[in-house]
Amino acid sequence: MIPTIRVQSFADWRDAARHLLAQQVPPHAVQWSETVESDDLFGAIGAVAQPRAHYGPEDVGQTAPANAGIDASSPATSPHAPARIPREMLRMLESAACFRAPDRYAFLYKLVWRWQNGQHDVLSAADEDGARLHAMVKTIRRETHKMHAYLRFRERAAGSGAPQFVAWFEPEHDVLHQVAAHFSRRMGQTTWMIGTPQATMLWDGTTLHAGPPLMHGPEDIADTGEAMWLTYYRSTFNPARLNVSVMHGHIASRYWKNMPEGALVPAMIADAAAGARRDGQTTTVGARHGVTIPISADAAQPKRDQPSTLDQCRRCDLWRNATQAVPGIGARSARIMLVGEQPGDQEDLAGMPFIGPAGQVLDDAFRQAGLDRASIYLTNAVKHFKWEPRGKRRLHKTPAQQEIAACAYWLEEELAAVAPAVIVALGGTALKAILGNPKATITNRLGTPFLHEARWIVAVYHPSYILRVPGDAAKAQAMDVLIEGLKRAQEYARSPAL
Ligand code: URA
Repeated sequence: MIPTIRVQSFADWRDAARHLLAQQVPPHAVQWSETVESDDLFGAIGAVAQPRAHYGPEDVGQTAPANAGIDASSPATSPHAPARIPREMLRMLESAACFRAPDRYAFLYKLVWRWQNGQHDVLSAADEDGARLHAMVKTIRRETHKMHAYLRFRERAAGSGAPQFVAWFEPEHDVLHQVAAHFSRRMGQTTWMIGTPQATMLWDGTTLHAGPPLMHGPEDIADTGEAMWLTYYRSTFNPARLNVSVMHGHIASRYWKNMPEGALVPAMIADAAAGARRDGQTTTVGARHGVTIPISADAAQPKRDQPSTLDQCRRCDLWRNATQAVPGIGARSARIMLVGEQPGDQEDLAGMPFIGPAGQVLDDAFRQAGLDRASIYLTNAVKHFKWEPRGKRRLHKTPAQQEIAACAYWLEEELAAVAPAVIVALGGTALKAILGNPKATITNRLGTPFLHEARWIVAVYHPSYILRVPGDAAKAQAMDVLIEGLKRAQEYARSPAL
């Protein structure tokens, strides 16, 4: 009889898989099943740390040895050695394990089995299994992003005890753990709970606890904070910027139905059509401080056809002194995304990235690398121009880490929408934003593609560096790095090694 391995989490699967690999058990000789715990009391919610493995009587072996694991390092040279996979592969497997598919754990085991047996093309998007893995990882990235953006905590009545905030969400995949970890980092010592149809996560101010489903829907939230939230939402709604199709395009109706402001939207749309557009313009825009810019009002208008929510971004203070937010530009199907630092003076006025002096250097590099600007997606880590006055000029100022982190939301959205195979980081700020690592520098990475979250990253010098570095030789050398980086990006985009 084919043994069945029962697992409840990725950690369980990993323990079991390392054990099976060590015993050379092929994928067809084992089957996987998922166990679901059925505790139904709030007090029974257990701490997230260290989920247990559940081995049935017919399982392979007794317990998984603690140190025979699938380790993230270099590939194994022999199938008899303990399984070793690249760290990036491990991350992809962990992400794919969140994808709801009945065969997910069997599929993950097939992937590591193939890798362990030297079939490294299993990570290639050109391989059937590799393509499925990539698609799963991409779906999970999107679902996580959506849950971060559309989950709404509602405050509970004072005196009703912890948790202070409760949210309900219906994710399509099992991203609750990651999302809860994200909110636990951001919400400090407030206590909260997130309910989904599959599970519950509770944050007690210091520790995350996972448990079975406790709520049936949003109606189970004792919601005294809702009135406050609706008032807030009404006050941030700017009818002058209303674009109904963009609004619905950004937030699918499956999210609206669980968002308290969803019920307000039809009335606000009706108001906007009846003339609130004009009022919104005069009251909201007129009250802004702004700066005086020596350019005609006509030329300073954003060149985009449609307003986007980026226009209204207040995640950091840079909007105060910028003319407008500058979104990325290019094909949504682009295989290559270039990320710069932030718009410069001319980009700020025109609303488009890389049209000033740095853009000219970039165009020169594109020409020499044989890369067509129209085929790529071009954007910046930070979407507002940060500057300081110097006489009558606005001088570029490097964005602070907080500003890079605040703007990462928009970069993530672009990455989710475009899903490029290769990202070219133009300079250190871009690399920090892409890796989400404030300490990242391009020095040791220049020109050599490396994997991050299932994408190739190529770090090169920023075109502005090429403009300002003293000496012809240094300029030429920096330009070569940029051109070679663009060539590598095209190679990797054409025949992905992933
Ligand atoms: N520098 C950048 O990083 N981005 C631009 O859009 C222009 C200059």
